[in-house]
Amino acid sequence: MSNQAAVLKEEQADLTIEERPIPEAGPSDVVVKNHALATNPVDWKMQHFGVFLEKYPAILGSDVSGVVDSVGSDVKHFRKGDRVTGFADALLSKDPQNGAFQQYSLVKECALAKIPDSMSFEEGSILPMSVATAAVGIFLSMGIPRPPAKQQGGFLVWGASSSVGTGAVQIAASLGYTVYGVCSPHHSAMVKKLGAHETFDRKSFYVVKDIIKSLKASNHQVVAAYDAISERGSAQKCVEILEALGGGKLCLTLPYPEDAGKPAGVEIVQTYAAKICIDKEFGHWLFNEWLAKSLEDKTFVPSPTIETIDGGIQSVQKALDLHAKGLSGKKLVITL
Ligand SMILES: NC(=O)c1ccc[n+]([C@@H]2O[C@H](COP(=O)([O-])OP(=O)(O)OC[C@H]3O[C@@H](n4cnc5c(N)ncnc54)[C@H](OP(=O)(O)O)[C@@H]3O)[C@@H](O)[C@H]2O)c1
Repeated sequence: MSNQAAVLKEEQADLTIEERPIPEAGPSDVVVKNHALATNPVDWKMQHFGVFLEKYPAILGSDVSGVVDSVGSDVKHFRKGDRVTGFADALLSKDPQNGAFQQYSLVKECALAKIPDSMSFEEGSILPMSVATAAVGIFLSMGIPRPPAKQQGGFLVWGASSSVGTGAVQIAASLGYTVYGVCSPHHSAMVKKLGAHETFDRKSFYVVKDIIKSLKASNHQVVAAYDAISERGSAQKCVEILEALGGGKLCLTLPYPEDAGKPAGVEIVQTYAAKICIDKEFGHWLFNEWLAKSLEDKTFVPSPTIETIDGGIQSVQKALDLHAKGLSGKKLVITL
């Protein structure tokens, strides 16, 4: 048996296909035979800018879905043959065995969820980074209690059509919040279907004014905001909205600009997807329990739309090049 991998051999190089050993599971690891992989912005950013990379060769990628091939001695929730989705944490571990872009990945038990038989591997592959980033932000960084605790009030999601944003919309809505999404008008129907009460046009010159006016007129006090974009001024716009509505918490996916000044009345926190592999109790709850059950119940669905890239492992570079150009309401998936 072989393990073909898309390897980043040196800084800024194109990915090269190589044969590598199939990983062996340590006590709390699971070896997944990948059937589908998805790309994330951090993958092309790591390749272009070398961020988060300490050594080469490296194997990039975080999102896998496939079948459990073997399990470590301490693994309780999984056995050979289970259909799973998993967060491959090479970002954190720096170990190429943990990278997604190969036929077999080593994934920690706390970062794996079973997927229903009715769910395709392609659908399974777009979940891990989106769910981890949204959930770490909401439950750990913002400190919002886990279900079954219910919440009230308005929750703003900036970038509601993005991969992370669609995850945040679904989680916030499932907690009981009235969700307001900021996205392009052509993604409004998708964002509402995922649970948003109302959407606002992200490109409108008056978007901040419109949100403040509409929310002041509603019965829903906005208590929190999640900025899935956190670039090109979106964080400052969220701050402006929260300040106008009496303050609250704001979660970002990227650091708050240093020159933007400290806002009054707004507590800014940041999410970090790989935290699910650091706070393992949280990872176990989120992936092994909450995600697996929510997928079974269909109370959380894979989002946004999937675009498959043909060509197997050889086509990972093509997918990264496409992702670097920017995506609109979709996720790129490679079927192996
Ligand atoms: N901290 C972490 O652990 C972590 C984890 C994952 C991701 N991230 C970061 O989070 C960001 C989002 O990642 P992602 O995978 O969700 O991205 P993505 O799905 O590739 O983002 C593309 C989507 O964002 C929308 N968008 C772009 N600019 C926008 C803006 N200014 N306002 C509102 N919507 C906008 C686009 O909508 P249109 O169709 O309207 O253009 C498109 O639907 C990236 O910067 C990523 O690096 C951080």
